Amino acid sequence: LTEVARLKNINKIVMGKFEVEAWYFSPYPEEFNQSPRIYICEFCLEGIGSQRQFERHRAKCNLRHPPGNEIYRDNESKISFYEIDGKRQRRYCRNLCLLSKLFLDHKTLYYDVEPFLFYIMTSADETGHHLLGYFSKEKQSSEEYNVACILTLPQYQRMGYGKLLIQFSYELSKKERKTGSPEKPLSDLGLLSYRSYWADTILEKLYEYKGDLSIQELSEETSITTDDIMHTLQALDLIKYYRGQYVICLSKNNVAHHEKNMKKNKTKIDPKKIEWVPPK
Ligand code: COA
Ligand code: NA
Repeated sequence: LTEVARLKNINKIVMGKFEVEAWYFSPYPEEFNQSPRIYICEFCLEGIGSQRQFERHRAKCNLRHPPGNEIYRDNESKISFYEIDGKRQRRYCRNLCLLSKLFLDHKTLYYDVEPFLFYIMTSADETGHHLLGYFSKEKQSSEEYNVACILTLPQYQRMGYGKLLIQFSYELSKKERKTGSPEKPLSDLGLLSYRSYWADTILEKLYEYKGDLSIQELSEETSITTDDIMHTLQALDLIKYYRGQYVICLSKNNVAHHEKNMKKNKTKIDPKKIEWVPPK
């Protein structure tokens, strides 16, 4: 056996109508290592080793949405967010961490869920609110992190949900009147998604705004840290030295890119629909 094959203990998961290949090791019970696939209940996220047991579970599990407060609902896109306290819903949150570890290389959080809040994004149909992805957030972060872990389930990746999760995390930071940044290290996919969100958000602000706008003001309006803004401006090559000072300068290319982006008409979070006040 190769090292990789030994490390990856779960082969496939079945979730709703999807069968998904696992990416990494996750500390599910050892008896699952022999199963060709494990079954994950879409609603309580319990992992189950055989189809027969799973059917028995389904007959008695009556959860149809995540076990917490629905703090966002958009009737058009059918997207909702639920806030779950790791202390109150330990089992659900551990199940979520076990599941997400299948797709996360380096995070080591599986059992210590109490210090975290979990923001679960779902899509509604007549059978219930289906998990699309989530992010976790420390209740008390000394480092100004506004996201600990972030995941879109593989069956829903590359459809824009990652950036919805990211936007939601910044909308919460705006309500807290704080800036925030995701916990490091980020995975390659995480970094790609954040860079894209930061670039979109900053370009949109610069595009809308007529007049002078400082990095500090950009940060206050977006809740993106000044560090992340600086890095993004540099990556987009927007900082120019002009008449003895540094200025942010949008090129025709940036404007064209942004205008094309706006035409894509992607789903976004409507901040007015968030029903949430920061915990005291
Ligand atoms: N290859 C190239 N680009 C990719 C990509 C891939 N596999 N996956 C996403 N992207 C790009 C998209 O093109 C998009 O950029 P654009 O809007 O400029 O086109 C951006 O990244 C975000 O895509 P989106 O569809 O909104 O993200 P997603 O729903 O696929 O979720 C993650 C992104 C990071 C949440 C998801 O990949 C994931 O869960 N990965 C595993 C867990 C992880 O690594 N989490 C982060 C570390 S904690
Ligand atoms: Na940030």
